[in-house]
Amino acid sequence: HRTVALIVAAGSGSRAGGAVPKQYAIVAGKPLIAHAYHAFAAHPAVDEVVVVIADGAEALAEAALGLVRTVVGGATRRESVALGLAAIDADYVLVHDAARPFVPAGVIDRVLAALDGAEAAMPVLAVADTLVRDGAVVPRDGLSRVQTPQGFRVDALRAAHAGWPAGEEATDDAQMVRRLGGSVALVQGDAMLDKVTHPDDFAAAEARVTWETR
Ligand code: CTP
Ligand code: MG
Repeated sequence: HRTVALIVAAGSGSRAGGAVPKQYAIVAGKPLIAHAYHAFAAHPAVDEVVVVIADGAEALAEAALGLVRTVVGGATRRESVALGLAAIDADYVLVHDAARPFVPAGVIDRVLAALDGAEAAMPVLAVADTLVRDGAVVPRDGLSRVQTPQGFRVDALRAAHAGWPAGEEATDDAQMVRRLGGSVALVQGDAMLDKVTHPDDFAAAEARVTWETR
């Protein structure tokens, strides 16, 4: 199998704020995106890493990663994934958010192993907190938080993007495959993969990596 990691990094990081989009901010000594890039590049099962960047971000990406293969993304995450998919040659693709810097090799192993028996695989973590909607408790049995990298047989993800209703949003690729009838395997995620979304999340990410390597 030829496996490509597609890192989506074409967002503007509006909720995180800062002088540059969050994926280029320095976290734990490196640009945020460099952590995930190197995790995939170092994984023996990954043949190529392709990064989807915003139009005009070429210099930022080169400063963060050196000369790597980039593709220009779109206005939404879904469009950025579709544009990346159109540019790769692969049997399996691992779609990953640049905003999740720390990617344990074991999660990549589990996702790829699950693709033997499913069209898609995603890492999930059980929800630990009590959940409420408008103050009323929502039973959390069976509820999980979804992370990336999500793995796909490329044909299945391409078909899901091609068949997706125009104008409808999707923040998650595995959900798109499932909606069109594909099988999605769930594998154990990892708290290291939590996303940097808001300003406080930079410090939380720094704390996670310090804790891990202590
Ligand atoms: N992403 C992308 N193309 C877009 C929007 C998002 O490639 N048009 C990427 C982001 O760069 C990020 C991942 O999708 O790595 C998850 O998105 P999110 O956390 O929402 O990042 P942003 O969209 O950049 O942040 P915000 O929504 O706060 O503006
Ligand atoms: Mg966003």
